[in-house]
Amino acid sequence: MNMVELIEKKRDDHALSRSEIQYFVGRYTAGEIPDYQASALLMAIFFRGMDRAETVHLTMAMAESGDMLDLSDITDYAIDKHSSGGVGDKTTLIVLPLVASFGVPIAKMSGRGLGFGGGTLDKLEAITGYAVNLSEEEFRRIARETGIVLSGQSKSLAPADGKLYVLRDVTGTVASLPLIASSIMSKKLAAGTNGIVLDVKTGCGAFMKTLAEARALATAMVQIGFDAGRDMVALLSDMNQPLGVAVGNALEVAEAVETLRGQGPADIHSHCVEVAAHMLRLAGRGERWTNLGETRADVERALRSGAAYEFFHRMIAAHGGDVRQIEDLNRLPQARLRHDLLARESGNIAAIYADTVGWATLALGAGRATKEQAIDHAVGIQVYKSVGDSVDIGDCLMTIHANDEKQLEAALELLARSVELSAEPVDPLPLFYGVIEAEDT
Ligand code: URA
Repeated sequence: MNMVELIEKKRDDHALSRSEIQYFVGRYTAGEIPDYQASALLMAIFFRGMDRAETVHLTMAMAESGDMLDLSDITDYAIDKHSSGGVGDKTTLIVLPLVASFGVPIAKMSGRGLGFGGGTLDKLEAITGYAVNLSEEEFRRIARETGIVLSGQSKSLAPADGKLYVLRDVTGTVASLPLIASSIMSKKLAAGTNGIVLDVKTGCGAFMKTLAEARALATAMVQIGFDAGRDMVALLSDMNQPLGVAVGNALEVAEAVETLRGQGPADIHSHCVEVAAHMLRLAGRGERWTNLGETRADVERALRSGAAYEFFHRMIAAHGGDVRQIEDLNRLPQARLRHDLLARESGNIAAIYADTVGWATLALGAGRATKEQAIDHAVGIQVYKSVGDSVDIGDCLMTIHANDEKQLEAALELLARSVELSAEPVDPLPLFYGVIEAEDT
């Protein structure tokens, strides 16, 4: 076997075998295949695609390129969720303690944000002292003692994906469905999970702009997980407008806490209830939480009773975070400047472009354009209106939290194009567009 043969085979639209894919992933990770040959193969995959079996082989080869976590000392069924990322998406912060409050242990590794999509770790680091880099022993100890742990991803999980992602980024091969699906799923499979709820977003603020693209990605990931012996479900959710009110790290932590106390904005509340109900359904393995409607009601109760908040509080304490910032949200990082953006005319909100709000948040310093960039946890935007709302002239549409006048100006320039009004009534956007179960694929 050699790389030239593999490249030519894929170039000529033939399927690669399991051993050929293992050869490529294994040798490339070990530094035995040069970047120019790996790039050529990635480009051939980009144009020719991969069938279901090839995509599963690629995912498994990447997952097995490093440690495969075994969480059986923590739980006999590890449940996880993955969001394809979006503006104002603080779902993980809410849903994990919510599910843990049902006695389902949560041991999750999460990522950082790049571009305008904020990462869960960046949000958690808005809390003083919260340790995201844990040793494997600490990770397991917190999970066992607290019932919930949420840390950064260990570098020893799926190292092949890390290496290939860097190469894809500079060779124009990121936007390939089998490469994206295998990249995401390799990390999930290596993280020791038995069941995974995928929250695949679609819309202008999402990776997948159209519903058809989101459905295709979700289907590919559900198939990979199913073929690898995992329980899978994917929810297709809206990302045309920001999720919730808050966009920006500390603002999102505050909104997550409010939602965990049963006082969050209606959209993020309902979104999280749905994701949590599906996680519990999988974790119940046909014995508990089989009725989605009843489970939703149970989840609502866990929010109202404070049980979910209690688990969040415990998690922050176990990670060394300052719980006083959770008990009193005014103690979270606060920006120096606040600017209200007012409606210049009356009408109905026809669009609040999530991507534009995301770029404006980035301009304030809340995110990073490159991996190394430091971020400002205090800054961000509160978006008070949703598509379908009516507004009067002078109504406050958004509050911008900034620490620098120039950054505020840059954000305002972007935000001037973020809202569209219509004289006609506008229907609200749905939260979800559909559910993909493994048996449907
Ligand atoms: N996220 C990933 O982890 N991998 C991709 O290829 C794209 C998004």
